[in-house]
Amino acid sequence: MADLAELIRGWDGEETVLRFDAPTGTWMLVCVHSTVLGPAAGGTRMKVYGEPAEALRDGLRLAAAMTAKNAVAGLPLGGGKAVLAVREIPSGERRREILLRYGELVEALGGTYVTACDMNTSERDMDVVAERTRHVMGRSPEAGGSGSSAPSTAVGVFHGIRAAVRYTTGSEDLAGCRVLVQGVGAVGSVLARLLAEAGAELLLADIAPERAGALAEELGALVVPAEEALATPCDVLSPCATGGVLNRETIPRLRCRVVAGAANNQLGEPADAERLAERGICYAPDLVVNAGGIIHLASLELLGEDEAARDRRLEAIGDTLARCFALAEAEGISTGAAAERMVAERLAAGRTA
Ligand code: NAI
Repeated sequence: MADLAELIRGWDGEETVLRFDAPTGTWMLVCVHSTVLGPAAGGTRMKVYGEPAEALRDGLRLAAAMTAKNAVAGLPLGGGKAVLAVREIPSGERRREILLRYGELVEALGGTYVTACDMNTSERDMDVVAERTRHVMGRSPEAGGSGSSAPSTAVGVFHGIRAAVRYTTGSEDLAGCRVLVQGVGAVGSVLARLLAEAGAELLLADIAPERAGALAEELGALVVPAEEALATPCDVLSPCATGGVLNRETIPRLRCRVVAGAANNQLGEPADAERLAERGICYAPDLVVNAGGIIHLASLELLGEDEAARDRRLEAIGDTLARCFALAEAEGISTGAAAERMVAERLAAGRTA
């Protein structure tokens, strides 16, 4: 408990709600980092942790990241995140029980926090949560939700890649541009299709080689072994698998001009943005380029917009990125630092609005 109190006191967020659900042994943590720009929005992560403090640390960090992502995306939303720290990933009736009681907790917060899917939680889970609260996005289409956000994330990354290529070459034409997509899952596979349509020369890598192989055959792409992906020469490297891929060890081995992909937390540490800049690699900060998922949910479900309005917001990811690159160049800072500055400026404007 002392650990938990210390973590909460050392955090710059607004509110932390902890509930221990005795019947299922589940810690339910809701971390409201900021409501300056609107209700704190962010997904619910379900995971087995060693200690509740580990779960809280994850929640606090992820909630702050959502404040930044939502702010730079221009959404009228603050940032939050919830963690369901379970003893084992539940199924069936037990899972439903946890989700219903969790829905009651979200409802009790009166709209301060709006939830959605995250690691180990699905549209079906959000349907269950929605039985107890209105403050939920990402339900299944059958239950009135907007469906998977992955295709919109891919569209946002596609606009981001075009903006980064325009910045580095002067033209956003992707014909003949060599793009390596690392991870061809829900986001990466849609992105690969968009890139193929735009005439890019595609390289695909996945730890499930049969997945990469089948898609490569369909799109006329080449398959690269997963362990060679980062060091393979290409114009654009698009990490769409896991976080932490850009670090002290990997950056010296990269052979690309641009990094722009969907994965969250691509940098091992903030200083890796400087390492990329020193190597002359144009890095599209992940929090800018992968905001398509939250844009999709917020636009269609919270703001009541239609698909055309959502698509304009996705396209604007390219413009935001262009502003980020210009700011980095003008100030002589990394693109990561420039993105942080853009977040701080929007929050400051929100505070005085
Ligand atoms: P997914 O689980 O559908 O796909 C991930 C793919 O990466 C899988 O095919 C997996 O086999 C592959 N993979 C895992 N480790 C790998 C490695 N070391 N090398 C090569 N391939 C590897 O996940 P999804 O939804 O496509 O998300 C991809 C990334 O984008 C994740 O980091 C996720 O957090 C992030 N993201 C996703 C959003 C969404 O709307 N789905 C929104 C924002 C970020």
